Amino acid sequence: MAHIVGGISTSHVPLIGKAIAQHLQKEPYWKPFFDGFDAAHEWLKRIRPDVAVVIYNDHGLNFFLDKMPTFAIGAAAEYANADEGWGLQTFAPFPGDPQLSWHMINSLVNDEFDVTTCQEMLVDHGFAIPMALLWPYVSKWPVKTVPGCSNPVQHPLPSPARCFKFGQAIGRAVESYDKGLKVVVIGTGGMSHQLDGARAGFINKDFDQLCMEKLKHDPQALTRYSIPQLVELAGTQGVEILMWLAARGALAGNVAEVHRNYHIPISNTAAGLLVLEPA
Ligand SMILES: [Fe+2]
Repeated sequence: MAHIVGGISTSHVPLIGKAIAQHLQKEPYWKPFFDGFDAAHEWLKRIRPDVAVVIYNDHGLNFFLDKMPTFAIGAAAEYANADEGWGLQTFAPFPGDPQLSWHMINSLVNDEFDVTTCQEMLVDHGFAIPMALLWPYVSKWPVKTVPGCSNPVQHPLPSPARCFKFGQAIGRAVESYDKGLKVVVIGTGGMSHQLDGARAGFINKDFDQLCMEKLKHDPQALTRYSIPQLVELAGTQGVEILMWLAARGALAGNVAEVHRNYHIPISNTAAGLLVLEPA
């Protein structure tokens, strides 16, 4: 059977893509952020997952405001990254695993998550940058991928409790797949930030660190927030922490922390990394 070997949550700030393209990883501004990934690389080399299920949010490349699924799952053989208009480098296409995707889609729908199924899907920086951070400078992506999207962009947003349950359903879907695959679940977004309005530039270090701590041993605590509370605490775009919560939901049972890093600021965002594995 397939088995979830761990969960990684990370920020996906577009500017990281420029730093990668310009080889700025050792520059003083970037070093505390990129150095945080060394331990994640070592863990991935040791665990060697076959598949990454990447729970992220699209920013207008694949879904726009006219059609915004609350939850969507990719079911393509390949996912192209494309120009989003940021001047970012684009990455090589990401291999899919349609058989696993369709198993997950069937399982999710049976589990009352009526996901949008995407047999063609472009993936943006929310997906590509975490992949490039976790597997830097590879000539070929070493894992197959299944993109899972949620919506922290256009209200009404799914609640933290609903996102956590989505992750739990993804966990059940993966663990019921009859092929012996090692699967890592990746959640991307956040941490606290706000790009617009009177609070533009808002960062909440205390709340970010509380989230990282609760994700480890008490993720249910984060499911009790309402969306307005989350916006107030994390910022209008910091609600992307919902993706971290979904990824955490996929890890059933107790977890152990492998590694964490937290750094302010990357662009105008608090940047975090959390690596968990089953205890
Ligand atoms: Fe984002």
